[in-house]
Amino acid sequence: MPQKIILDCDPGHDDAIALLLAHGNPEIELLAVTTVVGNQTLDKVTRNALSVARVAGITGVPFAAGCARPLVRTISVAPDIHGESGLDGPALPDPVISLDPRHAVDLIIETIMAHEPGTVTLVPTGGLTNIALAARREPRIVPRVKEVVLMGGGYHGGNWSATSEFNIIIDPEAAHIVFNESWPLTMVGLDLTHQALATPDVVERIRSLGTSPAQFVVELLEFFGGTYLEAQGFEHPPVHDPCAVARVIDPSVMTVRRAPLDVELSGALTLGMTVADFRAPAPDDCTTQVAVALDNEKFWNLIVDALERIGEPVA
Ligand code: RIB
Ligand code: CA
Repeated sequence: MPQKIILDCDPGHDDAIALLLAHGNPEIELLAVTTVVGNQTLDKVTRNALSVARVAGITGVPFAAGCARPLVRTISVAPDIHGESGLDGPALPDPVISLDPRHAVDLIIETIMAHEPGTVTLVPTGGLTNIALAARREPRIVPRVKEVVLMGGGYHGGNWSATSEFNIIIDPEAAHIVFNESWPLTMVGLDLTHQALATPDVVERIRSLGTSPAQFVVELLEFFGGTYLEAQGFEHPPVHDPCAVARVIDPSVMTVRRAPLDVELSGALTLGMTVADFRAPAPDDCTTQVAVALDNEKFWNLIVDALERIGEPVA
């Protein structure tokens, strides 16, 4: 049976590839796509999501916009990585599907409550504002959610500060809520995603597919590669968000380790740090785990396979 997921995202180059992967892989049933402020402002990431939907040929899936601001902090966007549009590089086609009129938080709640308990997986790949508010607005979703598989955090360092990763630090209070709920949670953090590097061989493999969506991804990766080199000194860009979707598709694509997790809210230097306690075997009631090692070949095969299956959607 396909895994039913809700993708909560902030497209963002890697979010866009995560959306294409989710749409193109038959093991995923995309129930809803929701957007949240992060890589760029809400209006920009939302338009980007709808634009990617056209590139991918996604129809019949509700897209809803969520929170335009973090719970407490001021907005932090990432134009140095994703550009002014949030998806610089390729031409962005005008959306053809309309935005669902519901707020993302309401769509998330309604979707989970409408499906059998234990069947819907939440896949956040941006800040956790929408997810935190959904859990607070309707606590009944927490025991109904099968699992939260999120891209964010890191147990040995950050990218937006020395200790903290972007998706967590832009709304640490929301992350604290999400990490401390009782649902099963897999943190696919920088420890894992920095292994998912879009090398020239990978880019050429995607380019050789010869389709418009593949060329769109190539142009995303070419832009993303330039900004990641300039802003963070990466020779090849880490494609973070698809790693979370890949974990849902095929858990064997990465190894994981159970450990109690929490989010720092008061550290002058460590705000937004995701703290994993590896000191002892995880207690029996531990519901959190972190991703450790990526099967690179399996991962990129999933990306290429999804693009092959998408083919050339009707414009
Ligand atoms: O730190 C990387 C994460 O922050 C990715 O999800 C990227 O899209 C940005 O949201
Ligand atoms: Ca993202």
